Amino acid sequence: MLKSLLESRHLPPLPEENPRQTMLSLLAREVYGVSPAAPDAIHAHIESDEPAFGGKARLRRIRISFDTPAIPFSFPYMLLTPADGRAHPAFAAINFEPAIPHKYLPAEEIIDHGYALACLYYQDITSDSGEWDGLAMCYPRNENTGWGKIGMWAFALSRVMDDLQTRPEIDGKRICVTGHSRLGKTALWCAAQDERFSMAVSNDSGCAGAALARGNTGERVRNIVTRFPYWFCGNYAAWADREAEMPFDQHMLLALLAPRRLYVSSAREDAWAHPENEFLSCVAASDAWRACGLEGLSTPDSMPQDLSPLHRGHIGYHIRPFGHFFSRTDWLMHMAYRDMHRV
Ligand code: GCU
Repeated sequence: MLKSLLESRHLPPLPEENPRQTMLSLLAREVYGVSPAAPDAIHAHIESDEPAFGGKARLRRIRISFDTPAIPFSFPYMLLTPADGRAHPAFAAINFEPAIPHKYLPAEEIIDHGYALACLYYQDITSDSGEWDGLAMCYPRNENTGWGKIGMWAFALSRVMDDLQTRPEIDGKRICVTGHSRLGKTALWCAAQDERFSMAVSNDSGCAGAALARGNTGERVRNIVTRFPYWFCGNYAAWADREAEMPFDQHMLLALLAPRRLYVSSAREDAWAHPENEFLSCVAASDAWRACGLEGLSTPDSMPQDLSPLHRGHIGYHIRPFGHFFSRTDWLMHMAYRDMHRV
């Protein structure tokens, strides 16, 4: 059943020659734009440091600065760590709001599960608009292949990663980047490029995220490039209504996580993000894990029922009831998967 469903999408196969470089350059050139090289060094300054949640955690505001071709750039992020002095695995979460916790971010529960939490508010990097501000002003602009805002947010997450690697409270080998919706697209593109992340979580990321573009009856390339052209490089707009001709599809973005861990979560009523295509994308990407002798998605021959997570393989997946939201239910599943695989 899954085989015929997948065949109906007519996907380009994953490249066999030099797959990582081939897929990265395709997606950079055609979708997200080319990111600049990492800065030679970053500087981190602790702006505040206080007990949180009655003292069981410690919350620090850390400002990261680095040189760019224009002016030096800096941004803050918040680091919440259990206060027991041990090294903890972490989530690097890119968020729609600066507040901790907030409706998408059950921070205390995350701490209680033994995870540290690095929080980046996305608009501290550049606005979510066509305005070329913040980090966008620091690098030369290229209309066709220059990075869009998803690329900029992803780049900032990698700078958070630079800092996390230096913190004794963090287990630097177990850092999972996570985000919801447009920020789920960002988390995937970040981990695709930055192999220091041991795992990525995409929650309801949909079009230009986890979901295949071919056969997508929710958001199409035309919709996204019309409303949000600035998330992408200029070249992406050329694929509006031409999905069938694209030399790539979103399973390649997921495949770039191999042989590391990936988790995709969908919401049943989120037709715009197209759960079936998010799931099929995981099935198609599994070839990349197979090529490494590993199991990608471990699934029966149909889409799972609500709240019946697929946690066995290197790709975790669940679908839950209700709509577009980063729910506590999703977080609990993501943490259950991480606990199970110690990733
Ligand atoms: C819009 C957009 C989606 C995006 C979502 C979000 O619905 O079309 O692509 O994922 O916003 O970020 O909430």
